[in-house]
Amino acid sequence: EKWPYRHYMQKEIYEQPTVVGETLKNLIHAADRTISVSQTAVGLDLAAVQAVTIVACGTSYHAGMVAKYWIEQQARVPVNVDVASEYRYRNTPMAAGSLMIVISQSGETADTLAALRHAKAQGQQVLGVVNVPESTIDREADATLYTLAGPEIGVASTKAFTTQLTVLACLALALAKARGQLSPEDERRHVEDLLQIPARIEQVLTHDDKLQEVGRQLMHASGFLFLGRGAQFPIALEGALKLKEISYIHAEGYAAGEMKHGPIALIDEELPVVVVAPKDGLHEKTISNVEEVKARGGRVVMIHTAGESTGVAADFEVGIAPCGEFAAPILYVTPLQLLAYHIAVHKGTDVDQPRNLAKSVTVE
Ligand code: M6R
Repeated sequence: EKWPYRHYMQKEIYEQPTVVGETLKNLIHAADRTISVSQTAVGLDLAAVQAVTIVACGTSYHAGMVAKYWIEQQARVPVNVDVASEYRYRNTPMAAGSLMIVISQSGETADTLAALRHAKAQGQQVLGVVNVPESTIDREADATLYTLAGPEIGVASTKAFTTQLTVLACLALALAKARGQLSPEDERRHVEDLLQIPARIEQVLTHDDKLQEVGRQLMHASGFLFLGRGAQFPIALEGALKLKEISYIHAEGYAAGEMKHGPIALIDEELPVVVVAPKDGLHEKTISNVEEVKARGGRVVMIHTAGESTGVAADFEVGIAPCGEFAAPILYVTPLQLLAYHIAVHKGTDVDQPRNLAKSVTVE
């Protein structure tokens, strides 16, 4: 039942503080601020992992891209991320001691399942990050970490994504810990930050009316560009995917630093540019991209850290409560989900059942 919400997607966006909190409970010891995902809990030899391959499709693939930044930074293990439909046919060699992570909300996506079977046939350890218990991927993986998002009805994935990120953030810290790369201070700091995420998503949701109005003003655009850097680059890709799926407006996500290598040619008064620009180590670089867009007459929607001056006037600004850089991607996707949702509602599309799409892609 979606009442009092108008759509399942809207309900699922609003459930995120709760389901992220539930998912976290399984992965951390809140009392002593430590990660509880461990070798024994997962049943895999995390300390021995030399390399990681992550395979998934769609939104789950974007979660995998964020995980690459996290695992490489925290655990100092090289990570390869691939879309399942490419990975499974490439016959790529897998080194001994590598771990495959497959991410799937449904646990039934045909290409992701085929990638899992390919890896297992090569003697690889496979860890699933799955939302549906007893799904095929859950059953066939050597171990599973569950996203406790509950049933996701809207075809556009929202709460499955933020819970996937929650699991992957904890897994990155667990890998780092198992490999002796995580100091107790850093563990405590990151866990405290993760514990704050549910309340901070609540705060993001207070911008709903504002994003509805931004959506109203931009709904007639024929295309959008989404920009982000670092672990926020996959968040930009996810924002573009949400908009495409439910509003049928063409949108492209780009690494902000790549803009000048092509897409800058598209910028004019007609193309809204949504920039994910938290106050992090790459903030100034991203702001210089915003300046380039403004200098060409582009309209900018800036998602930034509340209370921090950005030094550049965007057309629309959404301020997000300050949070640690590590956990920030979990927070910054929600304004993009809401923007896509409101544009679709303004346009009158079928938000929960967009044309041509299935919730679970069980065919190749
Ligand atoms: O069930 P899965 O996570 O394996 O599904 C993967 C994709 O089909 C899915 O994320 C799809 O891209 C969504 N419609 C995105 O909103």
